[in-house]
Amino acid sequence: MKKFVVIFTAAVLAVTAAAAFAATDALVGACIYKFDDTFMTGVRNAMRAEMERQGGELEIVDSQNRQPAQNDQVDAYISKGANALIVNPVDRTAAQPLMEKAKAENLPIVFVNREPYAEVMNAYDKIWYVGAKAEESGTQSGQIIVDYFKAHPEADRNGDGKIQYIMIRGEQGHQDAVLRTEYSIKAMKDGGFEIVELGSDTANWDKVQATDKMKGFISAVGIDNIEAVLANNDDMALGAIEALKAEGYNMGDPKKYIPVVGVDATAPALEAMSKGEMLGTVLNDADNQGFAAVKIAVVAADGNAVTEEAIGYKITDGKYIWIPYRPVTVENYKQFMK
Ligand code: GAL
Ligand code: CA
Repeated sequence: MKKFVVIFTAAVLAVTAAAAFAATDALVGACIYKFDDTFMTGVRNAMRAEMERQGGELEIVDSQNRQPAQNDQVDAYISKGANALIVNPVDRTAAQPLMEKAKAENLPIVFVNREPYAEVMNAYDKIWYVGAKAEESGTQSGQIIVDYFKAHPEADRNGDGKIQYIMIRGEQGHQDAVLRTEYSIKAMKDGGFEIVELGSDTANWDKVQATDKMKGFISAVGIDNIEAVLANNDDMALGAIEALKAEGYNMGDPKKYIPVVGVDATAPALEAMSKGEMLGTVLNDADNQGFAAVKIAVVAADGNAVTEEAIGYKITDGKYIWIPYRPVTVENYKQFMK
């Protein structure tokens, strides 16, 4: 009899423990500005992996770079009874109606990667933003160029003591494009260099557009005059490298090498670094951005308080989750390869 009681008690405990770790039954509806974006594909995969751990249901749709389509997708999630929303806005300046839709239903909404204006963030209490401080990535990428020029005086190809560079920018108005550009320039100046901008243009985060723009710069200013290329993301850095390779550059001949830096640390960028085609990048931590977004959505959908303990990430001003960037150079890139 005693033995029976012990076994019975143990069984009850096991059940209670299982209940404590019970999977959520939340349905989370997510919209990604466009699926055809290398970095956001990483975030998307991380979101799926996290929801698999959480046991709830995650739907993710492609907003195909159209804000009106995304607004409709949010309406559709609301009518099918989603318990929380995750939105990577097409246009971060148009986040207000999305916030209002969520607010009208008292639904938690987590914005990722494209930061809504503060007045939108402050107009609702069940709103969060998961992203990274773009300034940080700008500073780190500029610093990689500075370190390279200090270690390699021959990188100053015309010997004038200045860095002649090309800037390839992300999408117009995107906080990451604006701030990475500004802060990478600042880092080169703070590093003690005079700098000369030979060309600057947007390529909308896109590799093919960056190849085109870089080809244009090469024919406009002459490849011999370019000493560095800074791109706001890796896809565009890789696009620029294609244009350099077409001129026989960055293919192993040390006399024909122009340092190129990007941001994101995508798999193809790390691969290009391993081949010596690309100087460096900055880790834009897709995994932790995706994990954090889903954790917040689930905690909030289950009606629990979104605290640092509950989600395992630091929360700033009650609603911002800033995932740190990290410089990636020839010294440490291998540790970021998956
Ligand atoms: C940036 C990222 C880019 C692009 C963009 C989309 O953070 O570096 O590669 O994915 O977000 O909003
Ligand atoms: Ca120079």
